[in-house]
Amino acid sequence: MNRPIRSFVLRQGRTTPAQKRALEQLFPKYGIPYSERKISSTRKLVLEIGSGMGETTLEIAKAHPEADFVAVEVHGPGIGSLLNAIEREQLTNLRVIRHDALDVLEHMIGDGTLAAIHLFFPDPWPKKRHHKRRMVQPAFVALAARKLAPGGVLHAATDWPDYAEHMQEVFSKEPLLETASAGFAARPVTKFESRGQRLGHPIRELLFRRTGTAPAAR
Ligand SMILES: C[S@@+](CC[C@H](N)C(=O)[O-])C[C@H]1O[C@@H](n2cnc3c(N)ncnc32)[C@H](O)[C@@H]1O
Repeated sequence: MNRPIRSFVLRQGRTTPAQKRALEQLFPKYGIPYSERKISSTRKLVLEIGSGMGETTLEIAKAHPEADFVAVEVHGPGIGSLLNAIEREQLTNLRVIRHDALDVLEHMIGDGTLAAIHLFFPDPWPKKRHHKRRMVQPAFVALAARKLAPGGVLHAATDWPDYAEHMQEVFSKEPLLETASAGFAARPVTKFESRGQRLGHPIRELLFRRTGTAPAAR
């Protein structure tokens, strides 16, 4: 069987009773089941890939009530935590998808529709033999660029210097992208980032935008 190389390994991890309850009771309210139907929004739409425990996602969505956010994550406990936080804050502009973000980008997002893609601290896969598992590869970047609206931002961050170099190179080579000076939103410190900071890792932020001019607001 020709198995695709995945950017994640599903760890079972511990799901707390509160996370389990959220997955059962709140997913129907705030989740979007994976399907091959496109997500539609009349407002600016931002997709986050690998939202982890979701604290950063929540902060950004709270700070931008004018936009819609979709967080994609495969890790059940993280999705459960974020669902609980959405309910606690009564947020109406943040939904979650529990599925491989590559399929979501390909099948659930229309071309030229995203105001931003957030890729904060993707799994670094530090061993050389695992580099093929890294999310940032030319095919992923071409797909991500195609999904951005003109002027839409690809905002990535990492605490692994060689991954940052690789991202910089792959983003720069994508014809639909050019460097950007600002993201869609300011990025609060993420959970994974604070771990990197404790270990003394340098943090690199990468900002690129899709070429072309955004259509004027009507
Ligand atoms: C290193 S963690 C960072 C989490 C969070 N962004 C942060 O900074 O704290 C990377 C996350 O990406 C998720 N992930 C990896 N590959 C994914 C994929 N193909 N689709 C969805 N989520 C993915 C993992 O489950 C993990 O939670």
